[in-house]
Amino acid sequence: MKALVYNGARDVVVKDVPDARVERPTDVLVHVTTTNICGSDLHMYEGRTDLEPGRVLGHENLGEVVEVGSAVDRIKVGDMVCIPFNISCGHCKNCETGLTAFCLTLNPDAAGAAYGFAGMGPYNGGQAELLRVPYGDFNCLRLPPDAKEKQNDYVMLADIFPTGWHCTELSGMRPGDSVVVYGAGPVGQMAAYSAMIKGASQVFVVDRHPDRLRLAESIGAIAIDDSKGSPVDQVLEQTRGEGADRGCECVGYQAHDPQGTEHPNMTMNNLIKSVRPTGGIGVVGIFLPQDPGAPDAMAKKGEIPFDMGLFWFKGQKIGTGQANVKAYNRQLRNLIHTGRATPSFVVSHELPLEQAPEGYRNFDTREEGWTKVVLHPNGHRH
Ligand SMILES: NC(=O)c1ccc[n+]([C@@H]2O[C@H](COP(=O)([O-])OP(=O)(O)OC[C@H]3O[C@@H](n4cnc5c(N)ncnc54)[C@H](O)[C@@H]3O)[C@@H](O)[C@H]2O)c1
Ligand SMILES: [Zn+2]
Ligand SMILES: [Zn+2]
Repeated sequence: MKALVYNGARDVVVKDVPDARVERPTDVLVHVTTTNICGSDLHMYEGRTDLEPGRVLGHENLGEVVEVGSAVDRIKVGDMVCIPFNISCGHCKNCETGLTAFCLTLNPDAAGAAYGFAGMGPYNGGQAELLRVPYGDFNCLRLPPDAKEKQNDYVMLADIFPTGWHCTELSGMRPGDSVVVYGAGPVGQMAAYSAMIKGASQVFVVDRHPDRLRLAESIGAIAIDDSKGSPVDQVLEQTRGEGADRGCECVGYQAHDPQGTEHPNMTMNNLIKSVRPTGGIGVVGIFLPQDPGAPDAMAKKGEIPFDMGLFWFKGQKIGTGQANVKAYNRQLRNLIHTGRATPSFVVSHELPLEQAPEGYRNFDTREEGWTKVVLHPNGHRH
């Protein structure tokens, strides 16, 4: 099958690899029709993780079931399914309580497994014609009959829509709250969108890319351009000097200033300052325990100078981590089906798999207008 393979820093190639197949009786094999490039792929693409060359990338996958193992009961050949980026067993201590991003049985090295992801187990991704889904009954979300027409909406259930939603949950957001989101990439857009759906009174989105800020405005958010002045001051000015009720971190450890110099603590410390006393902060932007490519010695060990004093003094709360996609994907699917949510508003480009390297290049440099790239293996476009 054709697949997008990681060769090394900023070097990915589409080539023939052995077909993904049913390896265990609980596996489901999916013919991938839609698969996205994610900001998480960029950390790997830039060589800022320990991902080994040869791995197939792609953790935001949707497609048609073409084969099921002998122990699969619920999922049938022909079903259209969206697959959470987390691979989870369903029977460990964490999975049982809905914390499927921290499955204890599927990654030999840590809690939590994912497709085509550094540090999250040996699994290949779905930027390919076929994807092996372990524990298919548990991990496949079945889609309604409009699945094919609404693929660009439903595929966002694999990661960024639930992740944005999760960020607002981690922040403790309630209807009527004001929310400040750092990062207007696809994840930040989904956090802002989730906050709108949940009835936020005001949503601020901080970034410096005009196209991304305009997109946030198109869903009703207030754009904060941090290249024009301190984002903290701008948020305080618009919240009577108090700060927003909730904050969402949707940037991660490669946060940088508008000139491009990395400061891995920049968004965290800005959030502490732009959220009100006793407010909550959700952090879904990725921070890693090791970052050998980091600008300084502390950051290489995943440590950042964190404004603990102010955080404590303000009595704020913080929640972090990968999103437990299965905790939300069914309900968010229903919002899409009934037309109450259309997360495909983030999609800027649809490309055949063959053009994935071009998609990576442009998304990585945040070229104007390249907000979210959707790939269609097998030449399938709708
Ligand atoms: N927790 C999870 O489950 C989960 C899931 C998906 C993605 N992620 C992570 O979320 C993060 C965002 O993903 P994305 O796809 O939106 O990526 P992205 O890189 O396209 O978006 C990040 C945005 O942040 C902006 N930015 C950089 N520094 C900033 C700063 N100091 N202040 C404000 N904005 C700043 C950039 O200009 C960019 O627009 C990544 O770290 C990704 O790995 C986490
Ligand atoms: Zn993703
Ligand atoms: Zn588990």
